Amino acid sequence: MGGGNCNPKDFGAAAYWDARYSSPSTGGKGGGGGGFFDWYQSYSALRPLLRACVPTSSQVLMLGCGNSLLSEDMVKDGYQNIVNIDISSVVIEQMKEKHTDIAQLTYMQLDVRDMSFFGDGSFDCIIDKGISLKLHIFLEST
Ligand SMILES: C[S@@+](CC[C@H](N)C(=O)[O-])C[C@H]1O[C@@H](n2cnc3c(N)ncnc32)[C@H](O)[C@@H]1O
Repeated sequence: MGGGNCNPKDFGAAAYWDARYSSPSTGGKGGGGGGFFDWYQSYSALRPLLRACVPTSSQVLMLGCGNSLLSEDMVKDGYQNIVNIDISSVVIEQMKEKHTDIAQLTYMQLDVRDMSFFGDGSFDCIIDKGISLKLHIFLEST
């Protein structure tokens, strides 16, 4: 599940990501409907930086979470509160179901271009792994 041959314009569209997360071939390991995949880096690679900069008690916001294992692995390592958002309602429902027993994880379908849902100062740390590059490509191509 890399970049594929898709049109970069698609990266900003919920419909593109919904279709991708519904597909057995691109939905991540385990297939569409509950698979998982980490773009770029996994928690083991990022752990030294995160543990050095982000206390485990932090309120964390994960942008464009997709079906990454990053948040799950952070909780296993002691993080206590991670709100995960993604523009795709498909992946949010999949992740809610997958992580129903992990109270430290919350999943919400939201577009990062409108963060008015959250009040000022809601989070101590905001993690963006793999969303700003895609949005940049999308915005450049429109
Ligand atoms: C390249 S994937 C990265 C997924 C995950 N963060 C990772 O590192 O594996 C980009 C993710 O951003 C989500 N996304 C794209 N545009 C978005 C937007 N405007 N608001 C919220 N999420 C968005 C997509 O649905 C997709 O899950």
